[in-house]
Amino acid sequence: MHTHEIRKRFTEHFVNAGHTAVPSASLILDDPTLLFVNAGMVPFKPYFLGQQNPPFENGTATSIQKCVRTLDIEEVGITTRHNTFFQMAGNFSFGQYFKEGAIKHAWSLLTGSLDDGGLGLDPERLWVTVFLEDDEAAGIWRDVIGVPEERIQRMGMEDNFWSMGIPGPCGPCSEIYYDRGPEYGKDGGPIADDNRYMEIWNLVFMESIRGEGDKKGNFDIVGELPNKNIDTGMGIERVACLLQGVDNVYETDLLRPVIDAAVEMTGTKYDAGNKADDVRFRVIADHSRTAMMIILDGVTPSNEGRGYILRRLLRRVIRSARLLGATGTVMETFMNTIMDTMTPSFPEIADNRERILRVALAEERAFLKTLESGTHRFDEAAAAVKSSGASVLPGAQAFELHDTYGFPIDLTLEMAREAGLDVDMAAFDSEMKAQRERAKADNKAKKHRNVDESLYREWVDNNPTEFVGYDMLTHDGTVLGLVRGGEKVGEVSQGDEVEVILDVTPMYAEAGGQTADRGRLVMGDTVLNVTDVQKIGKKLWVHKATVQNGGLDLGSTVTAEVDGAWRHGARQAHTATHLIHAALRQVLGPTAVQAGSLNKPGYLRFDFNYTEQLTEQQLNDIATVTNQAVDADFAVHTIETSLEKAKAMGALALFGENYGSEVRVVEIGGPFSIELCGGTHVEHSSQIGPVAVLGESSVGSGARRIEAYSGMDSFRYFSKEAALASGLASELKTPTEQLPERIAQLTERLRAAEKEIEALHRQQLMSRTAELVSKAETLGTFKVIALALPGAVSAGDLRTVASDLRGRMGTEAAVIALVSESEGKVPFAVAATKPAVDAGVEAGELVKLIGGYVDGRGGGKPDLAQGSGSAPEGIEAALRAVREELAGR
Ligand code: ALA
Repeated sequence: MHTHEIRKRFTEHFVNAGHTAVPSASLILDDPTLLFVNAGMVPFKPYFLGQQNPPFENGTATSIQKCVRTLDIEEVGITTRHNTFFQMAGNFSFGQYFKEGAIKHAWSLLTGSLDDGGLGLDPERLWVTVFLEDDEAAGIWRDVIGVPEERIQRMGMEDNFWSMGIPGPCGPCSEIYYDRGPEYGKDGGPIADDNRYMEIWNLVFMESIRGEGDKKGNFDIVGELPNKNIDTGMGIERVACLLQGVDNVYETDLLRPVIDAAVEMTGTKYDAGNKADDVRFRVIADHSRTAMMIILDGVTPSNEGRGYILRRLLRRVIRSARLLGATGTVMETFMNTIMDTMTPSFPEIADNRERILRVALAEERAFLKTLESGTHRFDEAAAAVKSSGASVLPGAQAFELHDTYGFPIDLTLEMAREAGLDVDMAAFDSEMKAQRERAKADNKAKKHRNVDESLYREWVDNNPTEFVGYDMLTHDGTVLGLVRGGEKVGEVSQGDEVEVILDVTPMYAEAGGQTADRGRLVMGDTVLNVTDVQKIGKKLWVHKATVQNGGLDLGSTVTAEVDGAWRHGARQAHTATHLIHAALRQVLGPTAVQAGSLNKPGYLRFDFNYTEQLTEQQLNDIATVTNQAVDADFAVHTIETSLEKAKAMGALALFGENYGSEVRVVEIGGPFSIELCGGTHVEHSSQIGPVAVLGESSVGSGARRIEAYSGMDSFRYFSKEAALASGLASELKTPTEQLPERIAQLTERLRAAEKEIEALHRQQLMSRTAELVSKAETLGTFKVIALALPGAVSAGDLRTVASDLRGRMGTEAAVIALVSESEGKVPFAVAATKPAVDAGVEAGELVKLIGGYVDGRGGGKPDLAQGSGSAPEGIEAALRAVREELAGR
């Protein structure tokens, strides 16, 4: 039975019994405790905990959830049943049926005949386990279902009490096993052998809440759930393995084609008695699929978190294939194969094929580069360790491989293992820690800009500023503090550079990437120009200003006026930043996580974590989605709410930022963009005007930057570009759209012309050799030609001429020294005939001599050497020196 058919039967069975079919959630849910969804119940957690009412008609649901578990990654391919990606089919009851209902539903599906929509498993081969004290469940299995007592076994907390491994809903469980027969292991039921007896379904009687502890049952029960619930999980892959009569979960209809593709690619046989090879084939199949499904849900390779797991999976695939004998690239084949087998169950793959392939191929390219340079470095380091008689690779070396060569530590570990070495992990970890701390300290220093906050402490504590600038651009405020030259003062006067603290202000202080407002503080004739506003302790607005006219005392009332045009520009840029963020996630997937931003009137930049350079197409797509959002005239709403509610709304927050319990949510066009943000925004997206995306660049360590103009600055940018293009077009007498072609043509012609000139030059030069020979002087015992050749002669030509002259003067003790000047460089060459060399001349030495005068270097053999310098003014002196040197011998 095809896997897809098993899925269908499962869902139909439960839908017929009144369950609502719920599609699989993404592998990535906004739950900081989980890297990936690892069980079918995860999306239903709020219903189990009673935080939300289940929106299902009968209070029951069924799903086939995509799951990833990578804790046992080392087991993959070694056991017969560990997949890092698997599909967990489940039925869920929120306060409806309980143990008996769950047991009956499961049994009837597993043992129901194929004709009746069941899975047709032989009931005689099924075994069950229950939690030690769960007589109720044991009773149901025995009395209601009729499973003989000897096939009901009891297990403790570790096996038969299920939780997510973290505080949350939990309960005793009952597992169903299938006996694969004596060829797979010993008798005695699941207690005796969990390979022969394969677990296929776990029924959790979810009724309690657990506290802190581990996965192994070491935790306290801290409460009861409001209802008695059911959560079950049947492993689709394992059932497929049984129903397809294959030996392990890597050989089902979904994964076997990948193994076959690897066999064809590598020429190595599968299942031919080499266990290590077999494991590699299975790793390739398993990891290719998991990587593909993770990319599908938006992850891209990086050095931490989910991205790191993806990177590790992809790199293990590549390494395994190489160890099996693959010589070229492998990703395209594996990804295409696995996408083919998975698409019937996950049709969304079809729309994402190109993107998935692109991500995988980029990682493959990056890894092959890394492998080459890093492997070389590793081999050197490993050889050094071995030759010193030690067996441990120092942590510093592992860190260097990580830091400089991008070698994931587990790869170093694996290679060390293969080389018979250990790695000093304690030292590696402490290097990593030190690096993290350096980065942290850097960030901190940047953020606080070394402001001595103690000066402001009293105001921060007693007079936090009230900000009214979301709604108003002008407001009166009382002067509570004045600071000049780093000291508190009572008054300030014309010409002073000061800091002003008011009780109320409409002026936006720099925060969340938005630059501070500019504006004025006015009182009668007194005018202060505000050039910056900074927040101290998150609460105190400090206006940096110059007193333009008049003076100011403590206690004065001033009118603070925001420069409206400035604010307008800042709002445009800030809302545009949100649109670009949303567009970016649409185009690149949800893992393109914001790492910082800046917006000021007319300009914005947005940094995000992403390891690849964006393609022209991606950038274009981002610009298009952004401008479509402008065009859609989305309403911009701001909502003040609790952090919890904001997160429930799906608001994006900057990772690592400290938000208070009350937060501000900025929502643009409903679900299009929802972010936590304290900035100022336009009211409708069309007020932004066009957004001109300028380009993207790397800002180091896996982060990239997009820059853009907004509003009139976009317009100015576009017009400038257009003017440039039409200027070029009229200069080149060609329509603008044909410019690229025309320029390519011209460049091509230019190149050809340059080549021709070079060739002519060479010819000319060669034709002069006879004349040059006649210029030879006799200096001491040598014939010497020491000349500056006018005209741009390339280094190569110079050398040719020098050796040609040497040939012509071969019977004499002759030395040829030629210097030229070409494109700011000073190439030079020295040739010496055999008799000259025999008389002790070394061309290399003479080249060094010349180099000393023309600021250059060079080298070569005794009979021919060359070099290049950069100081043409030394040419004459250099030639003189050569002559003198030879004359004096
Ligand atoms: N939540 C249960 C499990 O993951 C069904 O095994």
